Amino acid sequence: MKQEIQFVLNGEQVFADVDPQWTLLYLLRNVFGYTGAKKGCGVGECGACTVIVDGEATNSCLYPVLEVEGRHVTTIEGVAAPDGTLHPIQQAFIENNGVQCGYCTAGMIMSAKALLDQKPDPTEEEIRTAIAGNICRCTGYVQIVESIQMAAARMKQ
Ligand code: FES
Ligand code: FES
Repeated sequence: MKQEIQFVLNGEQVFADVDPQWTLLYLLRNVFGYTGAKKGCGVGECGACTVIVDGEATNSCLYPVLEVEGRHVTTIEGVAAPDGTLHPIQQAFIENNGVQCGYCTAGMIMSAKALLDQKPDPTEEEIRTAIAGNICRCTGYVQIVESIQMAAARMKQ
């Protein structure tokens, strides 16, 4: 039997009738049509499904949908400005070749955003720790770390 939940999604109050067995990832992709968060492993190992819940990078594939009640959720669809201007982290990933196939990218950017929102001037080690749960099979991580450093520098200005 479905239950109604309400929460804030990318800055807007939303309601949804959910099956208690769903995950947040299922809700985002199949009810709201936000397909930026990807299902890679489905068991909390790859980070492709990462979104921000109440300021924390979160594996949405493991997050029980009823736990979303009353919380603030941000997905990759909510990080650009209303006029379409990309978030500095998105822009830096493009300029610095932090994207190849792109499967990991939304999750990487959400982990990076959660970090920079809390810590605007992270060390390389802190960046690597923040994205430790995000697997990339393409880039070797160097361009990703450099992209986050570039974004941090720009966001400080
Ligand atoms: S799909 Fe969620 S961690 Fe892999
Ligand atoms: S860019 Fe392909 S998995 Fe990261």
